[in-house]
Amino acid sequence: MSTTRNQLIELLENNQQEYISGQQLCERLNISRTAVWKHMKELEKDGYRIVAVPKRGYRIIEFPDKLSKNTLQWGLQTSWLGRNIVHYPEISSTQKIGHQLALEGAAEGTVIIADQQTEGKGRMGRKWHSAKNEGIWMSIILRPQIIPQLAPQITLMTAVILAKAIETVTEVSPAIKWPNDIFINNRKTAGILTEMQAEQDEIQYIVLGIGINVNQSRDNLPEDIQKIATSIKQESGKQWRLVPLIQEIFIQFEQKYETFLQKGFTDIKEEWEMYGYKIGEQVRISSNKLTYPAKLIGLETDGALKVQKQDGSTESIYSAEILW
Ligand code: BTN
Repeated sequence: MSTTRNQLIELLENNQQEYISGQQLCERLNISRTAVWKHMKELEKDGYRIVAVPKRGYRIIEFPDKLSKNTLQWGLQTSWLGRNIVHYPEISSTQKIGHQLALEGAAEGTVIIADQQTEGKGRMGRKWHSAKNEGIWMSIILRPQIIPQLAPQITLMTAVILAKAIETVTEVSPAIKWPNDIFINNRKTAGILTEMQAEQDEIQYIVLGIGINVNQSRDNLPEDIQKIATSIKQESGKQWRLVPLIQEIFIQFEQKYETFLQKGFTDIKEEWEMYGYKIGEQVRISSNKLTYPAKLIGLETDGALKVQKQDGSTESIYSAEILW
């Protein structure tokens, strides 16, 4: 995108409530009236809706659903999250760029987002299928001043945020499978990958990767995961705009993260349990090559999974796979 075009969008964005005259735009951008008009036509082709009123000027009334720094920041009500956005039409993995930028000193709240990833990374070395424009593929750089042992609580918190945002924007009912997979109707819709650079008692940075399957139809998901994965579109029968969902995530994230840093995990634990998948039900726990039946009770105060074994004893689980 040309710099002039970016500046033009920014000017329109900052004058949403009023018209900005053609003359002002010419002066600010140092271009001719004809050039302003041509840029406006280009923007309209890209899905921007601009009102032009003689003698008053131009006003932008709608941004397209295409992802870009401008569309994502338009009307965004956050103070630090998403203030720096790096968008790629195609990238290997937003996590990879996240690490590079974090090491170069990128600010907390920097977001790396892509329309498509060619080497999307999932947990436990798995691949994450990230098809063009069909989902949300993004990484957030965080620099929390907490001990590294508490980082898993940020992942649990993110699961709550995703569940809430999806529920608010799309009206489907998500659940969280411990620790942080988002399920809709028994199939996985979203996942979180938390990667951290830390010293013994200090976190240098976290790259928090979020992947949400939004608009894939069944055939657009790889065949090997069609039985276990789904998208919001498949479960709701509707196509969803990505920008409003991302903005909702940003808003909820900023609020919850600040509360978490001030007050700790208590409120998040309760909310997590409200979304908890199969809480109160019998499942099988697979841990250290052992598989045993147990009932899911909820979370411990530190975020560990509390289960009740068949002999009635309870156990706190920090790492395991839940099967059913
Ligand atoms: C999981 O396995 O459940 C976690 C999936 C995380 C995928 C996201 S998509 C954006 C970010 N970039 C990546 O390469 N992975 C994460």
